[in-house]
Amino acid sequence: MTVKTIILAAGQGTRMRSALPKVLHKVANRSLLQHVYDTSKLIDDNNIIIIYGHGGELVRQALPELEAQWIEQKQQLGTGHAVLQADGLIENSDTVLILYGDVPLLSKHSVDGLLANVSAQSMALLTVDLADPTGYGRIVRDNLGNVLKIVEQKDATEAEQEITEGNTGILAVQGEQLKNWIKRLDNSNAQQEFYLTDVIEMAVNEGISVKTSQPENVDEVLGVNNRKQLSHLERAYQGLQADKLMEQGITLLDPARVDCRGSFASLGQDISVDINVIFEGNNTIGNNVTIGANTIINNSVIADNVEILANCIVDNALVGAGSRIGPFARLRPQAELAEQVHVGNFVEIKKSTVAKGSKINHLSYIGDATIGRQVNIGAGTITCNYDGVNKFRTVIEDGAFIGSDTQLIAPVTVGKNATIGAGSTVTKNTPEGVLTLSRSKLISIQSWQRPVKKEQ
Ligand code: UD1
Ligand code: CA
Repeated sequence: MTVKTIILAAGQGTRMRSALPKVLHKVANRSLLQHVYDTSKLIDDNNIIIIYGHGGELVRQALPELEAQWIEQKQQLGTGHAVLQADGLIENSDTVLILYGDVPLLSKHSVDGLLANVSAQSMALLTVDLADPTGYGRIVRDNLGNVLKIVEQKDATEAEQEITEGNTGILAVQGEQLKNWIKRLDNSNAQQEFYLTDVIEMAVNEGISVKTSQPENVDEVLGVNNRKQLSHLERAYQGLQADKLMEQGITLLDPARVDCRGSFASLGQDISVDINVIFEGNNTIGNNVTIGANTIINNSVIADNVEILANCIVDNALVGAGSRIGPFARLRPQAELAEQVHVGNFVEIKKSTVAKGSKINHLSYIGDATIGRQVNIGAGTITCNYDGVNKFRTVIEDGAFIGSDTQLIAPVTVGKNATIGAGSTVTKNTPEGVLTLSRSKLISIQSWQRPVKKEQ
């Protein structure tokens, strides 16, 4: 069975009050359309068709990696008209699945349930019971519970408005039937739109039964029309992510205060996450890892037994087993720490490797550097890697000791077991095993007097 998934994404989204097309707004740092697309991608033998309109070129440019056929709906004349634009791409033998580009949390489970209900004799409709169904199309059933039609809010009688079973808009149907029906839709209704929902009555008239299913969770079928709904779905999504993490054995000190805006390549055992931690991109985290409050971890690999203290940023970095980071440390892209490295407060590391057992505990900038094993870098040390035009490397060999407040003017190498005296400006390679320092002489001036404030 070939599935053609049509994602309706031509709507304007006026109530977002945004220059950005609605479907490009994000939940968990992924656009609404990308969420829907990613879920569609999980269906076997599926071709995806995206109906776009408002801000169309922007949408296509923002999502160039989507493997889909894009069809423009020049005027938004209704959901039925939108689907009609894809008519030429639908084969009689296809199963057509209709999704909305602004309904991001639909689960694969619900889609599977829907597809299982499609046959030559039946079409599938996803409906939802709502405490307040205002604005939704209502599912009208006969006394036996068979679906008869969908009536839109604006066309509904008072009795029909009492119905709490709402139309999610998500449905699946055989290609041949759909192709037939969408050409016969008209717009003689309150909104003068071509309603896709009118195909339900056509199905019933042709003896095709309408099988309904419901999502496990209402949030799955909620759409985004304004910023409030967007934030609701962000929190709903984060709640689901937190549940998943806890099911996998992660301790979250407060599941309402952790955000996952990405994925995990793998997660070890006994990871503990304090409040206000944000995970972005794709992360790998080993066993017995503790992550302190207010930390952001993006696209990084954290090995076993690592302790990340509060207020750190770990961005495209690698942290070796048994290392301790922070508080207030910043690991930038290509910071690669081996095992048992200590990085302390106000230390920034970029594009550098730090070998086993080395310590950079306070107030340092390490950029474009290769640091050996058991190196100790004193407070306030800076690799001067940039001359304003080019970048150069600093090499610090095993066992070196860099005194506090040292500037290492790259390119430069500090030899094995060398010691650099505090306050040095190192402008050339320093020999192994000896003390090197540059320091102006300390003098005391006996005759000097402290200035006193002048009388006015
Ligand atoms: C639609 C359904 C309604 C259902 C509700 C659920 C119809 C007639 N009504 O109503 O029964 O309860 O969704 O949210 O289908 N779109 C286009 N082109 C258009 C019009 C819409 O691409 O010309 C897209 C929108 O971008 C959106 C989706 O279709 O993703 C739904 O459109 P919207 O205007 O929100 O439909 P509703 O009137 O809310
Ligand atoms: Ca809507």
